[in-house]
Amino acid sequence: MYNPQLDQHKKLKHLLTIEGLPKATLLQILDTAETFIGVNEREVKKVPLLRGKTVCNLFFENSTRTRTTFEIAAKRLSADVLNLNVSTSSQSKGETILDTVNNLIAMHSDMFVVRHNQSGAAHFIAQHVPDHISVINAGDGRHAHPTQGLLDVFTIRRYKPDMHNLRVAIVGDVLHSRVARSEIHALTTLGVPEVRVVAPNTLLPADVHKLGVQVFHDMQAGLKDVDVVMMLRLQNERMSGALLPSAQEYFKTYGLTPEKLALAKPDAIVMHPGPMNRGVEIDSRVADGAQSVILPQVTYGIAIRMAVMALLAGGHNA
Ligand code: CP
Repeated sequence: MYNPQLDQHKKLKHLLTIEGLPKATLLQILDTAETFIGVNEREVKKVPLLRGKTVCNLFFENSTRTRTTFEIAAKRLSADVLNLNVSTSSQSKGETILDTVNNLIAMHSDMFVVRHNQSGAAHFIAQHVPDHISVINAGDGRHAHPTQGLLDVFTIRRYKPDMHNLRVAIVGDVLHSRVARSEIHALTTLGVPEVRVVAPNTLLPADVHKLGVQVFHDMQAGLKDVDVVMMLRLQNERMSGALLPSAQEYFKTYGLTPEKLALAKPDAIVMHPGPMNRGVEIDSRVADGAQSVILPQVTYGIAIRMAVMALLAGGHNA
């Protein structure tokens, strides 16, 4: 099937969504990221794969982890990095997104990393740029956040290498979450046999079953014997109307406490893409506890983003 992210040789040209990407492509990214773990741990954390290239970070929406780890990743690949501050750019004077992009193309940019609150923004830019430029979606609306999905499965594979024998629960606001969608596509493509979503009906998409997940509405059943618990933030900025009684009520029912975590396997890992709302979806005793791999997720995000950029630039084979 035609996939606009791949060229005629099935080589990655843009990274816009995990949906529809072949398993071989996901494995190539994960295996390439493994080779960058060592680079990130040595004293001189640099390789020359993107020397002479210019990477533009175009973030039209707030970010802490994604923007900074893309910047670090690009610099560790020896690229020149341009961070466009959208609040002080000409966007605030009414310039269109394509005019902004055209100006950056005129400066000989080679790669755009795009975050936008509108679903489809990265696809729109990818359709517009010349052939030699790659676009990476760093989160678009509630649609996709492919590098987050990839760093999450990379983290799981590091702690639980047998992906074909795993039970994963994704808990919380799946409805508004681009992260959940990318995680589900990554997990199912890689052959994880049981992916659960645990949430009230009001926080689940109507067609959630079509994603190949099992649906649970209570934590007792949903967390029973799982290997991985992935917590999601309540995306209040994307909610229209009252979907929940209150944050306190939500925490009582769906917040991950040590007592609820005890329902999972004793060696289960706890993940969260950030930003976390302590006391809303997760208890600090869990977020900072022995089973939490929330900060390793951030560290692995650098290797994943290095792998994606290196593969797009055509300069690295795992
Ligand atoms: N996980 C994630 O996308 O975090 P940021 O919004 O801080 O980039």
